[in-house]
Amino acid sequence: MNQVNVFTAKPGMVLARHVKNKDGRHLMDAGTHLGEREIRILKMWGVLEITVRPGSGEAAEEIPAPSDGKINSFLAKWFSKNTLKDAVVKEIVLLAKDWYETHPGSLETLLGRIRASRESQKGDAGGESPDLPGLLSDNVKLPALPQIYSEINAATKDPKCSGKDIADIVSKDTGLSATLLKIINSAYYGFPEKIDSLAYAAMALGTRQICSLAMGITVINYFKGMPGAALDMEAFWRHSVGCGIMARNLATHVRGVNSERVFIGGLLHDMGRLVFLNHFPGVSGTVMAQAGKLNLSLHRIEPRYFGMGHAEFGSRLAQVWNFSPEISALIRDHHLEFETPPDKEVAMVYFSNWLVSALGIGFSGNTVLPKLNRRAWEAMEISPSALVPVIRQVDRQITEAVRFFYE
Ligand SMILES: [Fe+2]
Ligand SMILES: [Fe+2]
Repeated sequence: MNQVNVFTAKPGMVLARHVKNKDGRHLMDAGTHLGEREIRILKMWGVLEITVRPGSGEAAEEIPAPSDGKINSFLAKWFSKNTLKDAVVKEIVLLAKDWYETHPGSLETLLGRIRASRESQKGDAGGESPDLPGLLSDNVKLPALPQIYSEINAATKDPKCSGKDIADIVSKDTGLSATLLKIINSAYYGFPEKIDSLAYAAMALGTRQICSLAMGITVINYFKGMPGAALDMEAFWRHSVGCGIMARNLATHVRGVNSERVFIGGLLHDMGRLVFLNHFPGVSGTVMAQAGKLNLSLHRIEPRYFGMGHAEFGSRLAQVWNFSPEISALIRDHHLEFETPPDKEVAMVYFSNWLVSALGIGFSGNTVLPKLNRRAWEAMEISPSALVPVIRQVDRQITEAVRFFYE
């Protein structure tokens, strides 16, 4: 399947996946043959990227790579908060150049998202006055997660709980069971044979892993049910899933790191932003407008308007929802400007968020790429050359992973 920017889409292409607008409203079915009319509709609804069947319209292969000059001038601006004197950054800029050259359409998509995000924000808070501690303590304003979530969560804390017990709990929710099995059987996990029962899945993956995966899916489904936010939700989840699988792939290069934990931390790292966007769209718009005007990241502006940033809020939400203290810390510190070397897993989620942003994998609403914190980079103890296979893996896994987690 090929990712194609709508502005380079051509009649004759066939959609490989359903298309939704940024509010999550279904627009077109997978299998739709695109004509001029369909392409016009997609543009009208603000869709930026579609997935088409390879070879369809013969145009997927024909999209010209952006010129060297265009990529170079974009990268110079995009990495302007970083310095090329830093050998690691220099190496990553080369990887980013290769990424944008080999993913035709991705640069245009990112530029379109940055432009749209900056232009659409009015800076009018609409009379909202966010009370985040109040929101966390009021389960009417912030509805509780479904019952099955608490059962899975309790199971993770019970040392006597077996794989069979977990399987029994999860199988009460047929949708969740089906999603779990699909994910476990995907290339992402790469088990040599098909796993067709939850009890066997718990054995193959471990009970704790299966639980955190089930909790992650439940949280994503919870947010899917929230009203539309002023953001392309598919792009948002592509950013989050990308961060999770980047962290998990990095973890395979470093000893002593729990790969499933960094995956869940990466997957949920920006969930605080989703609550901001859903509950306080006016103030979120002001924050985005201010961030654009001052050329700063959202997390630098949020505390002025919300009393805390989305990372801190997401971490408190994770505590309310009884995620482990380690996962809560991964969420809390994903934008930290570390003054002392961070924990390896914290560094991994921090760096994965930074790298997926640098490569324009999905979009979280940030129109600025911050400076890479060297202490986080050094804490991971990996060499820049290890990033090449990691990025290649993420590239192979991302589309399937987004489909399983988000669609
Ligand atoms: Fe974030
Ligand atoms: Fe993020």
